[in-house]
Amino acid sequence: MGKMAKEIAGSGVEGSVQMLKRAYGAELSAFHYFWYVSQNIEGLGVLEAEFFEERAKEELGHAKKVAFRLMQLEAQPTDEPSQWEQDSGLGKLQPSRYLTLRSALEKALEFEREVIKHYNDLANSTNGKDHGTYHLALELLDAELEDEQNIEDILKKLEIS
Ligand SMILES: [Fe+2]
Repeated sequence: MGKMAKEIAGSGVEGSVQMLKRAYGAELSAFHYFWYVSQNIEGLGVLEAEFFEERAKEELGHAKKVAFRLMQLEAQPTDEPSQWEQDSGLGKLQPSRYLTLRSALEKALEFEREVIKHYNDLANSTNGKDHGTYHLALELLDAELEDEQNIEDILKKLEIS
């Protein structure tokens, strides 16, 4: 917990906390999606299993950073996994429905873009006020934009379904 962290984050801190909770749910939902896909992907997608596993690890790392910021702002990340989906704003990701390479990537692109929008909103709403959250939002926005680009590139080169 950080008393000064919270104090200097300013009066909009409750808004930051709510948005960080959503980000936490989204990162962990994305983690689970990629993890499940990496373990169960079918057909030629098995050749890309490692790509999905790497994405899973990356999302877990993002969740860790978001949790750390929440705690700095004296907010506890939820201890209830069923809350992740509810908080995420992404709906049910249902990875078992997307186990071919193309469908797994297309679904990922869909929720990555939602997450990108969310970090962009978080950056806009904390800019010039809550510097710590702003900095984190930019860092994670950048990481998610890179993911979007990578997934788009793979999809573009894909000749199979
Ligand atoms: Fe992420």
